Amino acid sequence: MKNWSDLDKKYLWHPFTQMREWTDSEPLVVEKAEGNFLVDVEGRRYLDGVSSLWVNVHGHRKEAIDRAIVEQLEKVAHSTLLGLSGVPSIELAEKLVKITPDGLDRVFYSDSGSTAVEVALKIAFQYWRNLGFDRKTLFVTLSQAYHGDTIGSVSVGGIDLFHSIFSPLLFNTLSIPTPFLYRYPGISSEECRDRCLDHFRAIAEDKRDEIAAIIVEPLVQGAAGIIVHPRGFLKGIETICREHGILLICDEVATGFGRTGKMFACEHEDVKPDLMALAKGLSGGYLPLAATLATEEIYKAFLGAFSDYRTFFHGHSYTGNALACAAACASLDVFESERLLEHAQSKIRFLKELLASEIEPLQHVGEVRQCGFMVGIELTENRSLRTEYPPGLRMGARVTRDVRKHGVILRPLGDVVVLMPPLSITLDEIRLLVSATAKSIHEICDQ
Ligand SMILES: Cc1ncc(COP(=O)(O)O)c(C=O)c1O
Repeated sequence: MKNWSDLDKKYLWHPFTQMREWTDSEPLVVEKAEGNFLVDVEGRRYLDGVSSLWVNVHGHRKEAIDRAIVEQLEKVAHSTLLGLSGVPSIELAEKLVKITPDGLDRVFYSDSGSTAVEVALKIAFQYWRNLGFDRKTLFVTLSQAYHGDTIGSVSVGGIDLFHSIFSPLLFNTLSIPTPFLYRYPGISSEECRDRCLDHFRAIAEDKRDEIAAIIVEPLVQGAAGIIVHPRGFLKGIETICREHGILLICDEVATGFGRTGKMFACEHEDVKPDLMALAKGLSGGYLPLAATLATEEIYKAFLGAFSDYRTFFHGHSYTGNALACAAACASLDVFESERLLEHAQSKIRFLKELLASEIEPLQHVGEVRQCGFMVGIELTENRSLRTEYPPGLRMGARVTRDVRKHGVILRPLGDVVVLMPPLSITLDEIRLLVSATAKSIHEICDQ
């Protein structure tokens, strides 16, 4: 048998990874999967506790999706959407328009969450240009936002560790605080929300002629550490956008496809964005596929004679890939045929109960944040003083490394241990996920 570990260390450069640490450690090499479990080259099974980085929805090797891909493969794997069309991309676009919030009637494909965001930013920018509002060029962002790793999506991001080194390359934005930043003892979440909304309103009033759009992760800021916004924040943002002629871009890359308990996070507050970015769970977690949805009003601003130069000059080689679109259509069919969102509610409640009984009481857990299947467990050195661990201790990384011996794969965000299981997780698997996490937090932090 090949030595996969040596070959990995010889040839691969892993994302978001200090490769010196990596080469000093023993990598877990996945060979196959069964349902919600990944299986490594040694035959060990691990519950996929973060849905293979927040993408998997129905578990691995879901028969209906496997079949759809094979059937599509027997027709065509890929043809271009530049100058041609393709059956699965049309089918999927129709389905997406039906299930997304009202008003989103046009689908522009790309291949990752970052590109879906790039597309949304470029459409918003050019929309105002096409209408003759040349000064509307600014984007408003939330502090600690994360929208991907390409230069445009990094420009609207706000996580210093990832983004600050690239600052000379980025375009200027207007950042408003996320409600989380105002969270001090004695300040209610409504007050945090209202302070942030006041901030946005003041900027919107002052610079309405210069602001093209605001981009938000609706309800949950994932990469910031599963920060859950107070109720009414998203709706408040939408209201200010409508009052001041600012486009609302909702980045549902992480929150979409059931992760918050509804198909899209926007639905929790009946919010209708002008542009929506989708990726990750779109193909059920099978293949790289993304979509940016736009309203008909935005789309129409791009129509005209070729010589008007209103065309959206953007596209990728694999835009609308047939295999990926076929997988996505099959995934959406499973949502319906298995009434997935209905069944999800009792799983979300069960997860909440177990988090409350097994995780929250732990001495080194500062806070547990949950929105649907998105969970962030914040580790703390001293619970009563709310002090953080020194970052060099890498407690989050140590806990998630340890949990492998209990048969679970997790990945932290700093000292926040993230749980984000597939929607297909069973009650027994939820038990395993939570008890393994509790054991590892205890083992690593209570020494
Ligand atoms: C909210 C959000 N937007 C965009 C992205 C980027 O997606 P991708 O990694 O597919 O480029 C992510 C990835 O985690 C995300 O959480």
